[in-house]
Amino acid sequence: MRHLPLLANHSPGRAAVTCRYRCGDACFHDVPNTSGNPYFGDLLDRRSAIKAGVVLGAALTATGATAAADAAPAHAAPPAEGTGADRHHPARGLDFRPVEPNTLDAVVVPEGYRQAVVIRWGDPLFPDAPAFDFDHQTAAAQARQFGYNCDFAALLPLDPTGRVNLLVTNHEYTGEPFMFRGYDEANPTREQVEVAWAAHGLSVLRVDQDRDGRLTPRFSPHNRRITATTPFELRGPAAGSDLLKTGADPTGTRVLGTLNNCAGGVTPWGTVLSGEENFNQYFAATGDPRETRYGIKDNPTTRKWERFDERFDLAREPNEANRFGWVVELDPLDPDSTPVKHTALGRFKHECANVRIAGDGRVVAYSGDDERFEYIYKFISRKKVRRGDSRSARRHNMTLLDEGTLYVARFTGDSPPAEIDGSGGLPSDGRFDGRGEWVPLASGTRSFVPGMTAEEVYVFTRLAGDRVGATKMDRPEDIQTHPHTGVVYCALSNNVDRGKEGKEGATEPNPRVDNKHGQVLELTERGGDALALSFSWNLMLVCGDPASPDTYFAGYDKSRVSPISSPDNVAFDRHGNLWISSDSGGALGGLNDGLYAVPVAGRERGHLKAFLTVPRGAETCGPVIGERVVTVCVQHPGEVDGASADNPASHWPDGGDSQPRPSVVAVWREGRRIGE
Ligand code: FEO
Ligand code: CA
Repeated sequence: MRHLPLLANHSPGRAAVTCRYRCGDACFHDVPNTSGNPYFGDLLDRRSAIKAGVVLGAALTATGATAAADAAPAHAAPPAEGTGADRHHPARGLDFRPVEPNTLDAVVVPEGYRQAVVIRWGDPLFPDAPAFDFDHQTAAAQARQFGYNCDFAALLPLDPTGRVNLLVTNHEYTGEPFMFRGYDEANPTREQVEVAWAAHGLSVLRVDQDRDGRLTPRFSPHNRRITATTPFELRGPAAGSDLLKTGADPTGTRVLGTLNNCAGGVTPWGTVLSGEENFNQYFAATGDPRETRYGIKDNPTTRKWERFDERFDLAREPNEANRFGWVVELDPLDPDSTPVKHTALGRFKHECANVRIAGDGRVVAYSGDDERFEYIYKFISRKKVRRGDSRSARRHNMTLLDEGTLYVARFTGDSPPAEIDGSGGLPSDGRFDGRGEWVPLASGTRSFVPGMTAEEVYVFTRLAGDRVGATKMDRPEDIQTHPHTGVVYCALSNNVDRGKEGKEGATEPNPRVDNKHGQVLELTERGGDALALSFSWNLMLVCGDPASPDTYFAGYDKSRVSPISSPDNVAFDRHGNLWISSDSGGALGGLNDGLYAVPVAGRERGHLKAFLTVPRGAETCGPVIGERVVTVCVQHPGEVDGASADNPASHWPDGGDSQPRPSVVAVWREGRRIGE
């Protein structure tokens, strides 16, 4: 067996091999954001702190601010509902006994629930697709099969009963050491590289749901594979810019492929949005500082694609990387449609994009830039949504993300900075909270950023955020709007660099140094208006081991909640409960990741419970919470250091001595709704 290089510096908990293939060692490299823009909360609070200094000291003592703790997690499961001393009633839709934390090589679901794999890496999507053959995989076969490492998933009903659906899935990245026996990272073959191109992208698959919720995949004219070579149209204000032109595309409007598609969203008009995240790792660097700001640093790259297609070598095609890092829109109803890359939403490591309709019909999209010390963005369209599902209304709505104004978030805390000491201990007002504003970056051809043209703002959006003093956050991941209240929820995954020498320390929205476990932010637009340019915010959860004093579960009794680390994707059920999937890489004592549910209102607010856990080495992604079925993507099972196709650490889902296969899993109950 060939051992992978061990990286002493990789993110705690996360396997070095995950860092290498998923994020291009994003955590191993120094953070790309070296800008000196200050935290605005600091600027404001320093002034108030001067006035209130003496009172502050007293308040700190009184509240017993805690030291940062890194205690072992509580392994005991919370008690069952409504039994013995625990007479609390579960929130509506969350009546299940939480799954115990574990390290099993299995998907574990609550008692009384059933589970099945819906589709696995390599399963055919078309009648002519060959059956999966691990030892003889070809690019031609892969292009007709389900891709690797499913992340985001959407389940779109095609009929009023919800029985016929389209499952749309992202395929974030390839893990070549797990896909090919004897893989030689220094000398990949052309076939291996082309398999990887075909294993990236998205899949569209018809799935039929039975009365219980069970999902069955079908061949259908809607079925489709999008790969790293599928043509895309660049649209919006930067399309056609010189910054986007290449030898193969002198128009700057047509790109081959999408890469590192992480989370996404479903638009109100039924299309799917998908965020191109860690695109940096696929391009051989030249050292241009604008590349460096996006983390493009490697030459050669890990996968060596630049040897097989010169567009991945920035010395030959300096603008090719500018054509990735966008929000992609796909119309799954039209298998012949050309997917779009939306330049109006800016270019960064998009985790996702989620759209809501404002009161006047304009649409608003939120998106996080998932890297340590990066920013949260919002886009407001110029045009208004057209109601109805006529062909002309859909066509119009699919242009809404072409024109509008792009903003970045600046947060201010309301507690004195001395109380935000990096420990995670609550300040004296009992909440990590405050206000914020959306700072405009560009609108159409108009730039609001000194020294940058609008085209530059769209293509080098991170630099624009630096210049206007955006707030550096702890890895903004998924962002979703609550379907009933309009409150926006953002998962901030973790940031072990916070507080390190030379890096920004704790701020009220990011209150822990060496933040291994992340937090969940609630953001309320002023007056509940999605178009507002200011907001209030608070942290609903500060994640980790509930037994540790640096955690917070909305004030709920922490002895009754499940441990959770590194919140990643968020979703809502029909009752308005928040569901959170985690991607900790074992940061909580090596425990497997999972899917959790938590009420956001009422007496049970903060009562977080594990609904399922995924196999060893896997992350939980793309939760879809239906009335009768919950689906999750199980990404990179068995991806732990020292493991490979020659030495698999997981045999999920097929068991025996099989290779692990990233898959979509459905969970349901016979004759009962989820959580009821
Ligand atoms: Fe692909 Fe931000 O996780
Ligand atoms: Ca506060």
